[in-house]
Amino acid sequence: MNKTYALITGASQGLGKAFALELASRQINTILVSLPGEGLDFVASQVVALGQEAHCYETDLTQKDNIVALAAWVNERFALSILINNAGCGGTQRFQDVTVDYLDRIIQLNVKATSLLTHQLLPNLMKRDKAYVLNVGSVAAYSPIGYKTVYPASKAFVYSLTRGLYQEFADSNVFFSLVNPGPMMTNADSASRLQQQGFFATMGLLTPDQVAAISIRRLFKRDSLIMLNWVNKLTWMVMKFLPVYIRLPLLTNAIKKEINRA
Ligand SMILES: NC(=O)c1ccc[n+]([C@@H]2O[C@H](COP(=O)([O-])OP(=O)(O)OC[C@H]3O[C@@H](n4cnc5c(N)ncnc54)[C@H](OP(=O)(O)O)[C@@H]3O)[C@@H](O)[C@H]2O)c1
Repeated sequence: MNKTYALITGASQGLGKAFALELASRQINTILVSLPGEGLDFVASQVVALGQEAHCYETDLTQKDNIVALAAWVNERFALSILINNAGCGGTQRFQDVTVDYLDRIIQLNVKATSLLTHQLLPNLMKRDKAYVLNVGSVAAYSPIGYKTVYPASKAFVYSLTRGLYQEFADSNVFFSLVNPGPMMTNADSASRLQQQGFFATMGLLTPDQVAAISIRRLFKRDSLIMLNWVNKLTWMVMKFLPVYIRLPLLTNAIKKEINRA
């Protein structure tokens, strides 16, 4: 097993697709994972056009058995040197209006899949001279927010998990890093929401391609908490120093207005 591979979850669209193409442009072979029937083959053809291998695996990562099966498939066939836990979901709704499946999906994908997949692929990563795990969080990790509730809670979990693993594996060959992007126009829904929010929401906005390029560059420079640009850094600093009793109602009111507009 001389060749090494990067596995990217949620690679069929948005930021995951951008990660796949960024890695391929750096001559890194990829293993692409997403839900079945969502166009993963098209992304794979773009990776191949850049001269790299692309292996597709379609599965629902909210199910434990699927995560274990994916990891077994990878561990039997590929020498893994990079894992990018990108697949994630969320939403903005009144808590009493959402279904149990909505809540379950966010928790299973953002919390469970990120933890279990990392755990199952770690023995493979540890066999490399140098290996990297990049977890995709969100600026939402920095504060609880009403009407988003489980999403920021799940991303706070990703933040805590990644920082803990970074420290635990500090003396090993596996380097853990976290990126917490701000809003991105990854699909038509997020684009129209951001445009409605006006100037401040779109200030310092990065495309998924830019987020992927900066993240990979910083990952290879062994940056354990990646700041994407000055807005991303300012957000982190403001959220760090603003007391929760100020930021919680501020953010919740902003999101409430978004719900009322919809
Ligand atoms: N967009 C933003 O503004 C923003 C801001 C901050 C952080 N983030 C984070 O960035 C990451 C990527 O976001 P995005 O906006 O690029 O998302 P996206 O466009 O909705 O893409 C999500 C990806 O995850 C895959 N996925 C969803 N559910 C899955 C499941 N059950 N099993 C396997 N794969 C699944 C999707 O596959 P299918 O195509 O097959 O459905 C898709 O490839 C997420 O972790 C998100 O929380 C996004």
